[in-house]
Amino acid sequence: MTSFRIALIGFGNIGSGLVRHILEKKELLAARAGVPIELVWIADKEFDRPRGVTPPPTAKLTTNWREAATAANVDAVVELVGVGPDGKPTLAADIARAALGAGKHFITANKGLIAAHGGELHELAAKNGALLLDEASVGAGIPIISSLQTGLAPDRITAIHGIVNGTCNYILTQLDADGSLTMQKAIADAQALGYAEPDPRFDVEGNDTAYKLVILASLAFGQELNVGDVALDGITRLGPEESAYAKANGLAVKLLASATQLPDGSASLIVGPAFIPATHVLAGVRDVFNAVLIDADPIGQTMYFGRGAGQGSTGSGLLADAIFAAKLQKAGAPDPQPLRIPRGTRKVTTPDQAEHRYYLRIRTSDANLAQQAAAIVGNRKIATEGPSQAFLIDRISQAALDKMLGKLVAAGIPSDTICKVRFALHQT
Ligand code: HSE
Repeated sequence: MTSFRIALIGFGNIGSGLVRHILEKKELLAARAGVPIELVWIADKEFDRPRGVTPPPTAKLTTNWREAATAANVDAVVELVGVGPDGKPTLAADIARAALGAGKHFITANKGLIAAHGGELHELAAKNGALLLDEASVGAGIPIISSLQTGLAPDRITAIHGIVNGTCNYILTQLDADGSLTMQKAIADAQALGYAEPDPRFDVEGNDTAYKLVILASLAFGQELNVGDVALDGITRLGPEESAYAKANGLAVKLLASATQLPDGSASLIVGPAFIPATHVLAGVRDVFNAVLIDADPIGQTMYFGRGAGQGSTGSGLLADAIFAAKLQKAGAPDPQPLRIPRGTRKVTTPDQAEHRYYLRIRTSDANLAQQAAAIVGNRKIATEGPSQAFLIDRISQAALDKMLGKLVAAGIPSDTICKVRFALHQT
């Protein structure tokens, strides 16, 4: 083995960052991997658009991904095609099946792919003596998956709490700093910085966070969980009222992903806006940064922090996987995958019955409607500011809250003007 040969499929923002990383850190990568990391194929739909980086002469360019994914001179396929406009990773799954089926290692940043097909692809990888590596799918380059696979291997993981969407965290930080900033402008800024998904609704509506939570919880709890198991809410209805409430009450607003492994082994998964104490370690995680806090027995609590999106961080996660695969291949290790998502094992407790403290805010300039809303919520009003009315509900289950929201909508309050925020990570 004289080099570790990569086929890159998807030469977009992250792909071009990866190419630059391979070129600029050539010697370091070779030293760490034990052999040079060589780019032998790049596949994309077109090569006309400038990418700001010139591929190395060793790389053959093609518009036929299959040719690159299955070529005899390829050791690993790096897939960066994302999901389709329908949100489904159809093309990515085809690439993964072709690459793994041909015995190539498969390295991806595609959380949609792993959340939907992780079990199947881990099985296919094992069958073909190849590795499925997805460090960059959660928290970009933060070594959270390798920590689950190695450092935390001796521990039983009981809970995961994370801020895992850089775009949402960036937006919430900007909204917090500038009360006059609109959600639309904050999203546009995150897109310009290359953090957001091509369709930023996947970020702000919480889907991206849910995918990442499914991947972490599946690996940590040894189950094949799916995105339908997550109680999901995004940040689109948050407004300046929530930033003001948080500031006045020693809180921070975060899009929080939480997974708990209950004593019976079942998993409970929830993603949504949360008020957490301003003194909590996750409250200090700002801008594009991500952090994951893991409770495990017997190690206790550990935390993983870093840039959760962008070229530099994602490229680092992808190349960490490439180095891992190159070293094992060089050593001739036959089946070295340390942790897999096992197919068909799934035990879920829906968080419907779990009780939380909630903040609820509606906006209406109709006094009658406001009164009706107060009656439905139970007159637990805490603030009125212009057309905004906020309520605090001390303990309510997700199911009862959903019922209450249904009544508010039936009374004539548009659902997109109702904002709910869970209180989390408070000492009780
Ligand atoms: N849109 C994602 C984020 C990219 O903002 O976190 C990294 O997965």
